[in-house]
Amino acid sequence: MTLSSVAQPLPLWQQLQATGVALAAVAQGVSASAALLRVPSALRSGVQSLLFASLRNWGRAHALRGILAQRKPPPEVDSLLCVALALSWLPEQAPYEPFTLVNQAVEAAKRSPKMKAQATFVNACLRRFLRERDALVAVTNKDLQASWNHPVWWIELLQHDHPNHWQQILRADLVPAPMVMRVNVRRIERSALAAQWLALGIMAHPVGPYGLMLVNPLPVDRIPGFAQGLCSVQDGGAQLAAPLLLGALPDHGKHRRILDACAAPGGKSAHLLELSDAQVVSLDIDEVRCERITGNLQRLGLSAQVVAADALKVNDWWDGQAFDAILLDAPCTASGIVRRHPDVVWLRRASDVAQLGKLQQSLLHTLWPLLKPGGVMLYCTCSVFRREGQAQVKSFLQHNTQAHGLPCVGHLLPQNSNNNGGVTDNLPSDHDGFFYALLQKPLD
Ligand SMILES: C[S@@+](CC[C@H](N)C(=O)[O-])C[C@H]1O[C@@H](n2cnc3c(N)ncnc32)[C@H](O)[C@@H]1O
Repeated sequence: MTLSSVAQPLPLWQQLQATGVALAAVAQGVSASAALLRVPSALRSGVQSLLFASLRNWGRAHALRGILAQRKPPPEVDSLLCVALALSWLPEQAPYEPFTLVNQAVEAAKRSPKMKAQATFVNACLRRFLRERDALVAVTNKDLQASWNHPVWWIELLQHDHPNHWQQILRADLVPAPMVMRVNVRRIERSALAAQWLALGIMAHPVGPYGLMLVNPLPVDRIPGFAQGLCSVQDGGAQLAAPLLLGALPDHGKHRRILDACAAPGGKSAHLLELSDAQVVSLDIDEVRCERITGNLQRLGLSAQVVAADALKVNDWWDGQAFDAILLDAPCTASGIVRRHPDVVWLRRASDVAQLGKLQQSLLHTLWPLLKPGGVMLYCTCSVFRREGQAQVKSFLQHNTQAHGLPCVGHLLPQNSNNNGGVTDNLPSDHDGFFYALLQKPLD
């Protein structure tokens, strides 16, 4: 693990304490990004690294904690123990010496009014772990959730959906994703931006037609050209959406009217506008996230009609003019972007897959009539589950016999250097998991 916290001057116990609090919040159903907003800003970047590493090893940590403390301790103690175990169970990947992590975790307990009384217990559990690590880890190897650091229902669903690739997907999920930028080709050519960066010592490799992958990730405010709208952060898999939809339209979408039905924070709307002269309506149910669409488009020098409304309540927002194309980037489990959001696996429940499936089906059925004859809809989700991809489209086509599927990339599974080449239905290179389907309405 390469953690920015290594350079932090703040004491490690303080970071571990804050990481434990953030992990306890995720255990209560709070997203990692919301939990991190509660962390004092001086600690945040170090805590983010420790929290993400803990989430990627939470299944293992949970199993180890179960052996060391058979009666579940209070939530804050449980989380602190899990943080220490998650970070130290695999010494070759540990961000600090396991011995240091244990000492500092005990210090974190001693210095917390809530955990002080349990500091001796924390110390006893973690010292035993240091003494018996190999044997304890061997016991947890029999536990599916511990071995793969994903919930059992998730693993079983992947085994069902991807019998030949489930292991590659799980392995890819546990490796942090690289930072990929999308070049705003309306403003600058990719090679020119890469050359500017190189002159400043920032190395990047091309990904797909518009992407640049940074060799070393940087905060966006330190990426030259970001504030000036020359680029945006977007995974290589997500960068396929706009070219796929525009490529299916006559004249590459020129003067066409396109609905981006679930648009916030505006990544795909912006890409549509960078690549075409289409008029884009960017709709999202979440008013606050709509402000992010507007902000992102402003930074990039682009404009769309941004509408905050529920796409399912068509009478509230639609002017009755049919669209030439619709991009439906539907709300989903986000099971394809675990590399970037390691909290997702622990926040989701098995029942979410069916519930989100129903919402995706309603969105497809509700928005289809808004498409002109001859128009095209791109349905996509950042999910690896078939229920949110192939099965959804198959069922839609069964109920809409006039719709037909156009050739498309289909299901992209998360890919990195660990499983590169191991997944046959993938594009080469590094990307998150996505499903894409192009649906065309026949001319009357
Ligand atoms: C996968 S995200 C979209 C990402 C976006 N397309 C991008 O590339 O930046 C899904 C979005 O759907 C929105 N959403 C969920 N239900 C909706 C609904 N009924 N109507 C409109 N938007 C909805 C969510 O607020 C969320 O912003």
